Formats: sequence, structure tokens, C-alpha cells
Amino acid sequence: MSPHAPRRRVPVRTDLVGVEPYGAPQLDVPVRLNTNETPFPPPAAFGEQLAKRVASLELHRYPDRRAWSLRTALGGRFGLPAERVWAANGSNEVLLQLFQAYGGMGRTLLLCRPGYSAHPLIARVAATDHVEVELDAGLRLSPAAAAGAVRAHRPDLVCVASPNNPTGIPVSLDTVRALHDAGDGLVVCDEAYVEFGAASAAELLDELPRLVVCRTFSKAFRLAGVRLGYLLAHDWVVDDLRAVRLPYHLDAMTQEAGTLACELAGEMTAHIQAIVAERERVRAALADLDGVGVFDSAANFLLFRTRVPAVWEALLDRGVLVRDFSDRPGLAGCLRVTIGTPAENDAFLTALEDSLHAHP
Ligand SMILES: Cc1ncc(COP(=O)(O)O)c(C=O)c1O
Repeated sequence: MSPHAPRRRVPVRTDLVGVEPYGAPQLDVPVRLNTNETPFPPPAAFGEQLAKRVASLELHRYPDRRAWSLRTALGGRFGLPAERVWAANGSNEVLLQLFQAYGGMGRTLLLCRPGYSAHPLIARVAATDHVEVELDAGLRLSPAAAAGAVRAHRPDLVCVASPNNPTGIPVSLDTVRALHDAGDGLVVCDEAYVEFGAASAAELLDELPRLVVCRTFSKAFRLAGVRLGYLLAHDWVVDDLRAVRLPYHLDAMTQEAGTLACELAGEMTAHIQAIVAERERVRAALADLDGVGVFDSAANFLLFRTRVPAVWEALLDRGVLVRDFSDRPGLAGCLRVTIGTPAENDAFLTALEDSLHAHP
């Protein structure tokens, strides 16, 4: 008999000990404004046509490994050939593949702080150490600070969200250029919210050879349930990613949904103006509230600050779920609210006023 008692569990990888799994609460409340989805479902025509197309798919066969039709349709939207486009299950998976291919042991990723909370988590899963550059007091990253951070850390890759999450503030194209030109790593611009009003770094692709632009169908295209993201880059990046993608990683139904969404892009994104108008209405209403400060936003959410404790809980008590960032460095007292339907936004504003009055 073995002198050792058999183990009841196997220790997880040491660098994963203590990892907090990513997860905004998914609570069943009347007004859910915490994950930056679009409140309006996709147009009926999308569902109807998708059902027909899915019915004619050969689901007993593996999907097209290269997702060629989808990548061609995506490239067509940007005047790029399919060779310069890559797609995966959500932009989170695109980022994972990038970090796996260009990060990994002994390599460094530069992120900004505060930034998208999944970036460091995905880096950790990809066994990639990260360093951070802090945003200034206005939650912006100047070209000089960007270049300074790249010179100081010499990162193998850099990843910034523009507009940034949770701030909503875009990274200027001059800052993207500075991040690129100050070093020799890959520069990833995560543009999950760009359609809501920020300038896209896609226009710099021909100028900056190590630039990658990541996009998603989860936000402006109203398809968070489909899980589809993509990148625009130079063809060598797409070539390299083939080494880390799993066989047949993108299923046939997702490929079909993405191709159809490209064909119906106008209808899929027809709500953007309404969301932007609502964002500005809610921003003005927040700015008018005593004791509330609100940041500018080019995304479909707003970051705001109050000095009242436990506002997140008070809103939840009133049936409104927002995202709490108040314990993040640099974001004391900050909450983030997704722009919902006008009725949801009104419910949020009323609940917030109520909560603030309850704790004068
Ligand atoms: C900045 C940023 N990047 C990427 C994502 C992930 O998007 P996807 O649903 O495509 O994985 C999000 C989602 O909230 C995000 O905020």
C-alpha cells in the first residue's frame, strides 16, 4: 500500500491560486444596467433569417475552420481582405488568443489602470505578467504618459480599451500612436464600445504595423448572447493566431449569425443614436444631482461618483442593478450605469435620487 493517503483533489496551477473568476452579478431584478448590453433586442428580421439559415446548415459536419465567409463579410465593412481579419467567441477570446500568442512566460503586457477588469484576468490565464500605467486625475492617458510607460517597461504587448471601461473615455489616436512608436511590442486597441461615438484606431492600421484593433458584436450589434468578437490587423498576426486557436473554435451557427449581422448592419445598429441621446439625457440629469459627479462618455454607459456610502445596495433595494467600482484604486465612490431603455433610465434616476435622499 502507498505510504501516502490518496489526494482528494489536485492543486490548481500555482499562478491561478486566489484568482477571482470574472463575474458581474447576474441578479433577477427589474432593471439590469450592469453589463453594458444593449437593452433593445435585435430586429425581428435578424431572428427570422437566422433561423432559416441555421436550419440549412450541415450541423453533422465541423464548421469552416477558417470562418472564411464571416471574415470576408467583416473585412468588407472595413475595406480589408479576410486575411487581415480574425474572429473568435467574443472579443474576450480574441484577447485570450492574442495574449497566448504574444504573451506567455517571461513576457510582459502593459495595461492601464483603471481599465477593463477582464484584461488582467485574461493575461493571468495566458500566464502573462502585466504592468500598469495609471490614468491621470481626469481618467485619461496622455501621449507623453503612454510613451513614458512603454519606455519604462518595454512591454511585449500593450492593451488599452477605447472607449475605456469603466470610464467611457476614449484613448486618443495620438496616444495609440505613442504607445506604438515608443516601443516594439504589439499594441491592441480594444474597441468594444467604439460604435457609440469614439474615433477608431482602425484608421491607423496602415500606418502602424504592430497595431491590432479588437471589436465585438456584444454591444452595438446587440448580440451579447451569440459570443462573437473579431480583430483587424496585419496578416502576420492572423497567421500567428492559428497556432493558439482550438480546432474548429468558432461554431457554424455563430459564423452564420455574424455573417448575417454584417449583411443587416444598418438595422442591427439602428438604435445607436437613441442610446447616445439617452446617454446624454442621463448624463445631464446626473450632473444636476447634488453630490453627484459624472464623467463624459463615448460609450453606452456612464461612470459617476457619489459621496454617499452604500448607494449600490440602496439602488439594488429599489430594483436597479448597476456596477460597483467604489473599491477600485482611483475610483472611490464610483458606480457605472449602462444606458437602458428610457423607462429603465428613468427608473434608475428615480431610484438614485431616492437613495441619495435616504442618506443625506
Ligand atoms: C472593454 C471590453 N472589452 C471586451 C469586452 C468583452 O466583450 P465580448 O462580449 O465580445 O467578449 C467587454 C465586455 O464588457 C469590454 O467591456
